[in-house]
Amino acid sequence: MEAYIYDSVRTPRGIGKPSGSLSQVSPVQLSTTLLEALKSRNNLDTLLVEDIIMGCVTQAGEQGGNIAKVAAQESGYGNHVSAMSLNRYCASGLEAVNQAAAMVKSGWSNLIIAGGVESMSRVPMGIDGSAWVMEPNAAFGKFVPQGISADLIATKYGYTRNDLDSFAVRSQQRASYAQKHKYFENSIIPVKDINGFTLLQQDEYIRENTSLETLGNLKPAFQQMGDLLFDQTAIDTYLEIEKIQHVHHAGNASGIVDGAALMLIGNKEIGLKLGLKPRAKITMGAVIGSEPLIMLEGPTPATKKALKNAGMQVNDIDIFEINEAFAVVPLRLMDNLNIDPSIVNVNGGAIALGHPLGATGCMILGTALDELERQNKNIALATLCVGGGMGIATIIERI
Ligand SMILES: CC(C)(COP(=O)(O)OP(=O)(O)OC[C@H]1O[C@@H](n2cnc3c(N)ncnc32)[C@H](O)[C@@H]1OP(=O)(O)O)[C@@H](O)C(=O)NCCC(=O)NCCS
Repeated sequence: MEAYIYDSVRTPRGIGKPSGSLSQVSPVQLSTTLLEALKSRNNLDTLLVEDIIMGCVTQAGEQGGNIAKVAAQESGYGNHVSAMSLNRYCASGLEAVNQAAAMVKSGWSNLIIAGGVESMSRVPMGIDGSAWVMEPNAAFGKFVPQGISADLIATKYGYTRNDLDSFAVRSQQRASYAQKHKYFENSIIPVKDINGFTLLQQDEYIRENTSLETLGNLKPAFQQMGDLLFDQTAIDTYLEIEKIQHVHHAGNASGIVDGAALMLIGNKEIGLKLGLKPRAKITMGAVIGSEPLIMLEGPTPATKKALKNAGMQVNDIDIFEINEAFAVVPLRLMDNLNIDPSIVNVNGGAIALGHPLGATGCMILGTALDELERQNKNIALATLCVGGGMGIATIIERI
């Protein structure tokens, strides 16, 4: 059985600070905005929706306790809809899509909504505590924060600050161009307040005027914590490294933002019943585990695994979305697998647009789908590095 994407929607990404346009909107409201949009855009008989799976990383406070079920109830889908929230760190939104696809492909479900949500302004990253840092045996001498891991990768493989900043400038230029030319409009659902007043209708984190000069003024973000606490742990583990070069900063790391994304995923029969045309099939999904201290090297083995299991090669992929958690992550994958940069993150990435942790995986897959349609191409692969040393990849093909 095949799993088809029938629709894909997302909120704009709001700056994840109290000044951001979505900071007054609860994560449940972000989610219901999209559930309502899926209902109205597709004239969806919600009685046929069986499950809602939503990635969410910081599951505390108003994002805790299975936000997907609360959103399902609040959007009037009906009591029959089951729902769950899951956490595979930054892969959560894509993991939700992959799980939905697997359930549809296996025949366990006919129609599922999957994606994710994260309000980083209201529920800050890390506020839920973490076994990585709170379990003494797991933490001591073994754990470093992701920014240190990113700097470690850059040091180990010789990526300079100029390499990273050049990539960041390109992300900003591509995102600005895509926004100006309305490439995101097919998927973006404006977020409104309770009076129907529009709070945000396009991504607000982009900085169009970013240049190598403006980035050159930014201080390394992880130098201080590295000097004080973590560099020695990294050096003790990677003995070939004498000193960590701290090359990531606010302008070449992913932005802290708020947002949500969802996809409507089902089999062929349900599409016929609902009168919906499939936009793409979900061909393959893969997850892998990798060394947890350097942590962010997962996209290479995850991409290889997804390609191998799909019987494909890098050359079969028309569009890559590689999450820009830190600039070194996509650079490393492109170099490892010899991927042409001109087909990677063609509309920018999380450096320019932001990375709403639990939503991003679904968002970038949706961006890839929109771009396949715009370019009239066929196959896309989305991949993310994942906290704790993991990687995820998903391949879609247009029908
Ligand atoms: C890197 C990081 C710590 C920076 O956070 P921050 O200091 O709150 O970032 P800000 O947005 O306030 O930017 C800091 C400064 O850089 C400036 N800046 C940011 N992007 C810029 C750009 N593209 N061009 C010029 N200046 C820029 C800001 O204006 C700000 O300047 P100010 O201090 O004079 O106001 C944060 O973005 C981060 O942690 N990112 C990674 C998130 C993460 O780990 N996600 C999971 C990864 S898998």
